[in-house]
Amino acid sequence: MKTFHTIKELKEEIRSLKKSGNCIGFVPTMGFLHEGHKSLIERAVKENDIVVVSIFVNPTQFGPTEDLDAYPRDLEHDKKLCKDAGASIIFNPDPKEMYIEGACSTVNVSGLTEGLCGAKRPVHFGGVCTVVSKLFNIVTPDKAYFGEKDAQQLAVIKRMVMDLNFDIEIIGCPIIREEDGLAKSSRNTYLSSEERKAALILNKSLTLAKKALISGEKNVNNITDIIKNSLNTEPLAKIDYVEIVDSLNLKPVTSTDNSILIAIAVYIGKTRLIDNFTWTN
Ligand code: PAF
Repeated sequence: MKTFHTIKELKEEIRSLKKSGNCIGFVPTMGFLHEGHKSLIERAVKENDIVVVSIFVNPTQFGPTEDLDAYPRDLEHDKKLCKDAGASIIFNPDPKEMYIEGACSTVNVSGLTEGLCGAKRPVHFGGVCTVVSKLFNIVTPDKAYFGEKDAQQLAVIKRMVMDLNFDIEIIGCPIIREEDGLAKSSRNTYLSSEERKAALILNKSLTLAKKALISGEKNVNNITDIIKNSLNTEPLAKIDYVEIVDSLNLKPVTSTDNSILIAIAVYIGKTRLIDNFTWTN
C-alpha cells in the first residue's frame, strides 16, 4: 500500500495505473476510520483493481461554531485499517495542498442541501461538494463508495454527479452497527459511558417506526410521533430533527407511497448523532 501527500504524485500514479487498464475504486474519508469505513473499502476492493482511500479532514465543511481542531485523528490506525481491508493507495494531503491560496471556485447543490442536516449546518454541504468534486478530479475513479448513514450526503453527491456529468458510479453502502444497534460513527468516541448507553435510543426509536410501517401504518405524522415520543423517553437525548422525506429529492412527504427516508439527528449530551432507514411500501 502506497501513501501520497501531493496531488501531482497521486495523479502520476493514477495515470500509469489507468494506462495499464486498472479500474479505480475510491473511498473518500475524513479518517479516524472504523468498521463502517472498512466495509466501504472491502466492497470497493471486491469491485475494482485498485482502491484509493483519501484521508483528509476537510476544513471547508465545518461551520464557525464546529470544532475542526477537535475532530479525532489517528493516521497510523487508519493506515493499518486500510491495509487490512485491502486498499492500494492512501491519499493524505495537507489542507494547503487541497486549497490553494486565492481559490475562487466552490460547488453547491441547491434544494437537497437546505433541509435535514443542511438546515442547521448552512456551509456544510458546500464544503462537502467542493472537496468531493476536487477529489473526484484528482483520483478520477470509476466508482466511489459512500455510507448510507450520511443519507443526505449520499443523495447530494448522486445529484451533483448527475448534474455535473462526472463519469463516476456512486455506490451507497449499508449502515454498519455496533452489536447493540448503535450506528458506527467517528463521533461515538465523544460519548461518555452513560451517553453511549443513552445513544441506543436512536436505533430503538427507528426500529419502533419500522415496526409500525410493517404493521401497515401509513400516516407520516403518526410515524414521526412514534419516533419523537420514544426519543423523548431518554433524558440525555435532545431532538435536532425527525424528518420523513422523499428518498431521492429529500422533500418532506405526506404519504408513504413512494420510497421514503426516515432520518433523525439527536444530541446526546453535546454530541450530535444521526441515523436513518429507507422504506419502500
Ligand atoms: O463523509 C465524510 O467523511 C466526508 O463528508 C467526505 C465525503 C469524506 C468529504 O470530506
